[in-house]
Amino acid sequence: MKKIIVTGGAGYIGSHTIIELIQSGFEVVSFDNFSNSSATTYDRIKSISGVEIPFEEIDLTNRALTNTIFEKHKDAVGIIHFAALKSVPDSVARPIEYYRNNNDSLLNVLEQVIIHGIKSTIFSSSCSVYGNLREDQLPVVEETTWNEAECSYANSKQMGEDILRNVAKISPQNLIALRYFNPVGAHISGLNGEMPSKVVNNLAPIITQAAAGLRDKITVFGDDYATRDGSAIRDYIHVTDIAKAHVKAIELGLSNNMKTNFDVINLGSGNGVTVFETINAFEKSTGLKVPFTIGPRRDGDVEAIYSDCTKAERVLNWKCEFGIDEMMASAWKWQQYLIKNNITG
Ligand code: NAD
Ligand code: WQD
Repeated sequence: MKKIIVTGGAGYIGSHTIIELIQSGFEVVSFDNFSNSSATTYDRIKSISGVEIPFEEIDLTNRALTNTIFEKHKDAVGIIHFAALKSVPDSVARPIEYYRNNNDSLLNVLEQVIIHGIKSTIFSSSCSVYGNLREDQLPVVEETTWNEAECSYANSKQMGEDILRNVAKISPQNLIALRYFNPVGAHISGLNGEMPSKVVNNLAPIITQAAAGLRDKITVFGDDYATRDGSAIRDYIHVTDIAKAHVKAIELGLSNNMKTNFDVINLGSGNGVTVFETINAFEKSTGLKVPFTIGPRRDGDVEAIYSDCTKAERVLNWKCEFGIDEMMASAWKWQQYLIKNNITG
């Protein structure tokens, strides 16, 4: 079996990707320091896949330890590097921690990719690398010139892509950066989903918490945007669709079919959905009401962003299976799992 290292494998997208890798016949080892997760994730992965995931507890910013751990797993042929800090407001408050965590870990990982000749490397990038776009630039294509990053987190991802691009010039390994738009939802079984140790401020968990009565209401950040209903537009994508795209990307990197050894691909659904439409989709798919109020625009928010996903279709032979209704239904199933297990933080 081909062995794939998944860094950040105890986290939200990493855990869903491990499930899809296992189901596609790969062997997986996970590296994580549990700074935003815990080892209980591996129990949930096992309950879905039937497989006990071997893991290493390691902070990948530690170069010496990273060397040692990679030496132990030098039979790996691929790596998916999810490990990073990801909160936009937190990165504004703690830029040094974000640059150090996200970029030191990437440098340490890439050093090992070269030393051990790991053929296929996938890097978690983000739609936030595009910065603020004009309406005529939507849906956004990969070639679009970046604007200034809105926060240190987004800048750390711009820097990450630059590092990959330059490393690809001096080493033959295949390096692919995937730019995720807004991943939401949970495994369709309802047995795995997002369980961060840090506070989340994202729309989907806030909707499910409001519907569950864990918070009074959701505040819609702005209803005066120049959009069809005044609320901001995003490209939501089911986390399992994102996970499946990673399997395709790792397979592409393992093949000899890449035109150049560095590529960048958007991972979105291609659909722009407003905040109100997201709330309506949740209410329609669950039959529940979401109490909401209108508040001012949130600092740093863009009016609208959604992807052109034709490159992902063409290069990865992948497209989304799930729509916004399934995203919301699975998010609600996961919220119920959390309540049943008394995890309400
Ligand atoms: P997550 O926080 O759930 O998972 C990240 C995992 O990495 C966590 O388990 C954390 O403990 C681990 N980690 C962080 N720093 C580490 C370090 N130095 N050493 C070892 N482990 C470390 O986040 P996620 O939502 O699963 O995101 C995964 C990746 O995708 C990140 O790189 C993130 O920036 C990127 N991304 C996420 C989104 C999103 O909305 N979720 C969107 C675009 C890009
Ligand atoms: C979505 C929409 C809010 C909460 C961020 C990063 C992006 C990616 C995903 C990592 C926005 C509105 C939200 C609320 C609201 N992450 N909203 N009330 O900000 O689009 O994207 O996470 O790479 O890079 O920038 O995601 O889920 O926070 O917000 O009205 O209580 O929901 O204003 O329009 P965002 P989000």
